[in-house]
Amino acid sequence: AMESGVARSPIKDWDAYEAELKNRLGLDNKFVRNITEKATRNPKRVVFAEADNYKILKAALTAYEEGIATPILLGKRERILSTMEENNIEMPDVVIVDPKSEDQEEKRNEFGQAFFEKRKRKGVTEYEAIQLMRDRNHFGAMMVEKGEADAMISGITRNYKDVIRPALQIVGVEKDAGRVAGMYILMTKRGPMFLADTTVNVDPTAEDIATITELVAKTVRRFKVIPKIALLGYSNFGSAPGKDPNKMRDAVEILHERNPSLCVDGEVQANFALNNELMQEKFSFSTLANKSVNTLIFPNLSAGNIAYKMMQEMTEAEAIGPVLLGLKKSIHVLQLGSSVREIVNMVKIAVVDAQSK
Ligand code: ACO
Repeated sequence: AMESGVARSPIKDWDAYEAELKNRLGLDNKFVRNITEKATRNPKRVVFAEADNYKILKAALTAYEEGIATPILLGKRERILSTMEENNIEMPDVVIVDPKSEDQEEKRNEFGQAFFEKRKRKGVTEYEAIQLMRDRNHFGAMMVEKGEADAMISGITRNYKDVIRPALQIVGVEKDAGRVAGMYILMTKRGPMFLADTTVNVDPTAEDIATITELVAKTVRRFKVIPKIALLGYSNFGSAPGKDPNKMRDAVEILHERNPSLCVDGEVQANFALNNELMQEKFSFSTLANKSVNTLIFPNLSAGNIAYKMMQEMTEAEAIGPVLLGLKKSIHVLQLGSSVREIVNMVKIAVVDAQSK
């Protein structure tokens, strides 16, 4: 019963606090270690679409040295090589591809043709399709689509939607996923917490929320964690009707019907979701009463994106994400300004994801 959670009082005992932090870091390491081991057992070819960026190169180097991935670097060859030299980054035999260069003209034509085939009834001309392959995110996604690479990492310098759109258009949605969504993993003293959708669907319907929840549940299980899922709102089980609470309630109904054994409930406020004593006291009828919720589903992108970024900035907890779910192939979009450590974690996620595709 003591596992209920979030610290409510200011820190009184600093020794105890530090011991607790150590304990928390222990948890972090275990989760990250598992992913690292899984990645190194079967490393994959990963396209780094922004390889002229110093942080991306550092992350690629770590992935290379630790045997997590075989990097494929996209960008201007001289620029990549000079950045590597300036920073003493050595990756013998690493493949560098410049999608804009003369020697890739044939590839651009081939990829452009394939893109045209996919989008010719969506307003794209053949000429435009070939031109688009000069863009690294299109070229890289096409490499993954064509099996010339297993995964792609991009987004540190571009707007999220400029990277995810080519991914949606080129590799598309996994058949039984139905929806693409972004998940964020936070290592807390409660263990890993999974948050979604934090990055993709602006205003999902109840049906979308149900689909996204199923997708997240499947992924959480893949990390060997049993998902205990709260659909969040600003009200508890109908206490304040409104568009979003009603939507979340409808989504719960769909989920209960489709997956009777899935541990999911709502709509519920975040403090009840995260405090199982409070939940038990007030809503003992809920599937979540006396359970330690580890998965939070948000009603829309504003809530999900703001919540995860606040958590990220306000806790010391390590975080991994945003992990893209539901794409046919492993493509992951970094958040603007990710650190080297965050990028390396995303490479591990991308490799493990590629292993399952
Ligand atoms: N799941 C499945 N399929 C989708 C999804 C989705 N979530 N979104 C779009 N698609 C489909 C479209 O229906 C379309 O289908 P088509 O092949 O029949 O044309 C295809 O994918 C291509 O999509 P587009 O039409 O090119 O793109 P769309 O206009 O639908 O926009 C986008 C998709 C870019 C993801 C948009 O929803 C968006 O901008 N979302 C918000 C992204 C964002 O800014 N996030 C916050 C910041 S990220 C951060 O903080 C790290």
